[in-house]
Amino acid sequence: MYKIILIGPPGAGKGTQANLLVKSLNLAQISTGDILRKSVCAKDILGVKANEYMQKGQLVPDDLVINIVADYLKKCSSKNGFLLDGFPRNINQAQALDNMNILISHIISIDVEDSVIVKRMTGRRVHVESGRVYHVDYNPPKVDGVDDITNQPLVQRKDDLAEIVKDRLKLYHDITKPLLNYYRENAAKGVYKFISVDGAADIDQVHNKLKLTL
Ligand code: AP5
Repeated sequence: MYKIILIGPPGAGKGTQANLLVKSLNLAQISTGDILRKSVCAKDILGVKANEYMQKGQLVPDDLVINIVADYLKKCSSKNGFLLDGFPRNINQAQALDNMNILISHIISIDVEDSVIVKRMTGRRVHVESGRVYHVDYNPPKVDGVDDITNQPLVQRKDDLAEIVKDRLKLYHDITKPLLNYYRENAAKGVYKFISVDGAADIDQVHNKLKLTL
């Protein structure tokens, strides 16, 4: 059974690869960013609380996010397993996940240079309801501005503005990237498989590499 954690900087392609992997491996997808964005759209209590942090490119408080994930994992009934996209993002969240006593099978680290990321963010378009991700040049929808499946309009994320992307990248390097060492050490003890992939390659190339390595 697959129990995968996907880690990488903003714009590395975590959401894109998560969408492809859950389809090809028939997994449940738990993307904290997508869950939070849906709540922000619905203006529910979680969304109102999360919005002030997300708009500034900051992390939403740990207790909120940990509760979301714990709840999803409790209800998760997928026979083939799940994929966590965007969680954990700091040591506190990683330890909370450890305490849930879930035996993770794979850690996937997607790495991309900061300079490539900025270009990706400005061209990104999303379908909020499903979490489907497009890019105006690299992964365009069939019809400009419209989701392929639902025909609903695509939107640009508010946190994709260049100056907020800069802050999100700094947060990644300062807070989230150190998690890779935490997970690499455990991988060396044989706790799970650690896979590092170059996210600068084409979307399909990255996906194929992951499928072959998992
Ligand atoms: P979240 O949605 O998780 O944002 P992120 O981690 O910053 O990652 P992104 O969604 O920006 O990028 P991605 O790696 O998924 O790339 P994508 O596939 O879209 O979180 C948003 C916010 O929610 C956070 O800032 C925080 O406030 C809050 N939050 C979420 N989780 C939290 C947590 N655990 N704790 C606290 N707060 C939390 O690709 C980007 C673009 O590039 C797309 O247009 C895509 O089409 C294109 N692309 C993808 N791959 C390729 C490729 N190989 N070549 C060319 N283009 C590509």
